[in-house]
Amino acid sequence: MKKAIFLPLAVASLFGQNLPDIQEKNGLSLKTIQGYENWQVAATHWRKDKNELRYVLVDPKNEKAFKKGDKLPNGAIIVKIGWSTKPMDSFPDGLEADKIQRVEYMIKNDKKFVATGGWGYARFIKNPDGSYKPWGGDANECYACHTAVAGKDYLFSVYQKRF
Ligand code: HEC
Repeated sequence: MKKAIFLPLAVASLFGQNLPDIQEKNGLSLKTIQGYENWQVAATHWRKDKNELRYVLVDPKNEKAFKKGDKLPNGAIIVKIGWSTKPMDSFPDGLEADKIQRVEYMIKNDKKFVATGGWGYARFIKNPDGSYKPWGGDANECYACHTAVAGKDYLFSVYQKRF
């Protein structure tokens, strides 16, 4: 009996939330990154202009290549999560993540997304009620800024060492 109760919970935590199939204009769905909550954090950033904490996560198949700084193959996915921050309840001089602002990702497909440098771009905004909505903007905007690092496979992030 115990097993019957705990197994679904274990499976849910292994694969993460069941993500909705909401899509950006280029057809990229939030569901594509099912399980991303459990991916390795490859880099973290702090945006001074937006007071936002960001985690960059890499899909498990491409962790090694990303770590080496290799150009990533078709199918590779990089996710970014952005949080607002607030003083820690337990220690106000420290800041902690408050609310998720958005989850966005890039997926490599050098045929489908040839117009945006071989990467597809998707952004999903978190609503106050906890649901998500597609950003709905023009992926060329994402691409235009990411061309600043065209020579680095359009990726700003580099693997953040932890030793
Ligand atoms: C004005 C410049 C700019 C625009 C526009 C922009 N980005 Fe980025 N993006 C960055 C910078 C800088 C970073 C690295 C710092 C960080 O984590 O925020 C980044 C990081 C990322 C990453 C992690 C991989 C990497 O390159 O480091 C993803 C995924 C990403 N952006 C997706 C998007 C998507 C999707 C859009 C459009 C909806 C977008 N970006 C628009 C500047 C931009």
